[in-house]
Amino acid sequence: MPAAPFGERSLRVFPGGSLGEYNLPPELAVVLARGEGATVWDADGRRFTDMTMGWGSVLLGHAHPRIVEAVTRQAALGSNFAYVSEPALELGEEIMRAVVCAERVRFCASGTEATAYCVRLARAATGRRFVLKFEGAYHGANELGTVSLFPRRLLEFPHAEPTSAGLPSSAVTDVLVAPFNDLDTTRAIVDAHRRDLAAIVVEPLHRCTTPEPGFLDGLRQLATGAGSLLVFDETVTGFRLAYGGAQQYYGVRPDLAALGKALGGGYPLGAVVGRADVMDLVREDRIGDDRYVWFASSLGGSAVSTAAGLAALAVLRTEGSYDQLFDAGARVRAGLGAALTDSGIEATVQGDGPLAAVVFTKGPVRDYRDTLGADRTRSRAFLLGLFRRGIFLNPMSTKFYLSLAHRREDIAAFLDAVRETLRADVRA
Ligand SMILES: Cc1ncc(COP(=O)(O)O)c(C=O)c1O
Repeated sequence: MPAAPFGERSLRVFPGGSLGEYNLPPELAVVLARGEGATVWDADGRRFTDMTMGWGSVLLGHAHPRIVEAVTRQAALGSNFAYVSEPALELGEEIMRAVVCAERVRFCASGTEATAYCVRLARAATGRRFVLKFEGAYHGANELGTVSLFPRRLLEFPHAEPTSAGLPSSAVTDVLVAPFNDLDTTRAIVDAHRRDLAAIVVEPLHRCTTPEPGFLDGLRQLATGAGSLLVFDETVTGFRLAYGGAQQYYGVRPDLAALGKALGGGYPLGAVVGRADVMDLVREDRIGDDRYVWFASSLGGSAVSTAAGLAALAVLRTEGSYDQLFDAGARVRAGLGAALTDSGIEATVQGDGPLAAVVFTKGPVRDYRDTLGADRTRSRAFLLGLFRRGIFLNPMSTKFYLSLAHRREDIAAFLDAVRETLRADVRA
């Protein structure tokens, strides 16, 4: 089937007709025109229930009035000065109140940048080369995030494999890869590299795989024991699993953390936060010093993005907001589980808080290798079937992001589409 007119134009301009990922067949290529709450409309007026919400960057819902008001006010006062503005200062102060490890804050414009800066800071602070990541973890489109993200070959740990072409060889040779939730293997890798290990970088909720009790604590001890830094990539978990992020939720304090997505209330924003002695390596009065870390950008911490972030955090601080987010996530996970059980299709539902994911394998899923037996044909049929039935999502990922705007009707519409898709499009 040919693409609809807007989709056709988009396919002519953008590689794959997208801004990144999606990989929709041409006939499904759409162009979005508008969003409100948990609904988006395409340029042809077709309505979708949004189950990806700007990949989790829009935690309050599209066009939330408090954010629209804050952004409109700030836009009239100047959108960006590449310098500290009042909203940037207030948001920085609020982050320090909210996030346990945040003794200092520096803004950037995305989670990709934030995690890359964490790695640079860790190498500079320790004078060491290696960074340990967990197989299958995404840390943004930077070097660390695109190594051993979807490894095709199962190399022996800790060997890394590039998932993107075009990386320098050091992106692979300076990364050690460990299996998530396997403290013994991780310990052995750390022990073998303890003099050269700059950091352990972890998504505390690894994609949607939950950490087993003691795992994050164990990483904390391993990092401290080796004189390495523990870095939490909280791009997803920050302000989502709890107001204070995963470090509050799981009770483990990292040395540095990367923030993004929800922090900006749907506007481009990221931040690195952490120990003052490490963060102060970016002070410009240190230029010329061997350990000085270059960290600056034209749009990092823009006035308009930080105004949006402040408005978002004010809403998230209101009584009951996390109960609402967790309730939405729990309903979606329970509904998915029931629909899959009724369909007789083997699958594992994952996630926590306002996050859910489906892996088409029996489970349990503790790490990346447990997902390798997953039926990718079913997964693709499931996601495209949902898309065809009016669920907006990224068909390259079964990760669903809920928001404060997802009402019971939205969740019911999603679960109806799930049942219909499993019945019609996914073979048991
Ligand atoms: C854990 C994690 N880190 C980093 C990133 C990159 O963030 P951004 O897309 O804002 O650059 C993502 C994006 O999905 C992510 O999930």
